[in-house]
Amino acid sequence: MNNIPQSRIRYLRTWTTGPKKAELRSTSESQNTALLDLASNDYLGLSKHPEIIAAAKETIDLEGVGAGSSRFITGTRPIHTSLEKELASWLARERVFLFPSGFQANLAAVIALSNRHTSVIADRLSHYSLLMGIKSSGAKLYRYEHNDVHSLEKYLKQIIRRNPNDRPLVITESLFSMEGSSPKLKKMVEICDKYGARLLVDEAHALGVMGSKGRGLSYGIKEPLVMISGTFGKAFGSGGAFLATNNELGDKLLQMSGAFRYTTALAPPLAAAAMAALTLIQSNPEWASELRQEASYWRAQFIDEGWDIPYGEGPILPVIFGSDEEVLYRQNQLEKKGFLIVAIRPPTVPLGQARLRFVIRRNLPKNSLERVLETLKEK
Ligand SMILES: Cc1ncc(COP(=O)(O)O)c(C=O)c1O
Repeated sequence: MNNIPQSRIRYLRTWTTGPKKAELRSTSESQNTALLDLASNDYLGLSKHPEIIAAAKETIDLEGVGAGSSRFITGTRPIHTSLEKELASWLARERVFLFPSGFQANLAAVIALSNRHTSVIADRLSHYSLLMGIKSSGAKLYRYEHNDVHSLEKYLKQIIRRNPNDRPLVITESLFSMEGSSPKLKKMVEICDKYGARLLVDEAHALGVMGSKGRGLSYGIKEPLVMISGTFGKAFGSGGAFLATNNELGDKLLQMSGAFRYTTALAPPLAAAAMAALTLIQSNPEWASELRQEASYWRAQFIDEGWDIPYGEGPILPVIFGSDEEVLYRQNQLEKKGFLIVAIRPPTVPLGQARLRFVIRRNLPKNSLERVLETLKEK
């Protein structure tokens, strides 16, 4: 155990404290409409889609706003069960369970898959909710270098050498929210297989935009991938989340997950909105690939102009400026020209890597890219 390098809890602290006090920035409706949104995760523009609004409104009229209790009391409605079934079939997984948020779904996922005897090897840039799941489960955390399969294998090799019966849990996201980068999932699957590890993939930012017909990057991958999490808060345009898994782990979640059991069920209008979003994504399978094409074009143009962008393929385009001062200056500069864009600073990203996180969304006005690049040329 001592020969395995690990930096456990320190990482959690760097995310909870930081050099600067965070401030909440309100983006009111009037501001949102005055500025062109290049910041939110509403990748497909579904948050204002008429069919989604209508589905939510209709459910409010019929059932009210809240579910009123947990799924095991009176909170389960037909829309919950039909959405779970439809998602399971779309993603080709045996079971799906809805959660009020992706944060909660991630907690539930990690807690279901690990305990204090488990070794968890998570990408260094894993989302805070996954890290909190690991912390609550009491598992031992090892962090491999971001998207680095060699670093992952090094940890697995050491863990298995120490205890050949260990079944470690490997955790990654399929599209990292602040990097716009994706792991080599196929290679990770091979490595997990080789060492008897299980894989959990957070598809929060990938669903609706990455993979075949927007079904995420883990679509079609079975064992050792045992669970995926997804949220409706991003490309689906509303709120709420889910876990998708096999029958065995599904039963375990249903019977034992406190995060599923002891919480008010997802509000029915949100479930209806998610169902409407799913129907739209299913009937417009080209949306995901078109968005990725547009994002590649943006990426290529930014790189041509000499901007520093980490390698990635999806709609998240971080431009690294380094210092907090520079990135705040750039945020204001773009805002003055009509763009809603947010400076992302430590501790959300590592020190010295402050960035503007551009989000390429479906149906941006034609000359948006040119206007952004023109503005950035001015100092
Ligand atoms: C990678 C990742 N996972 C999970 C979540 C949590 O999802 P939700 O917003 O539904 O709580 C987020 C959102 O912040 C995220 O970026």
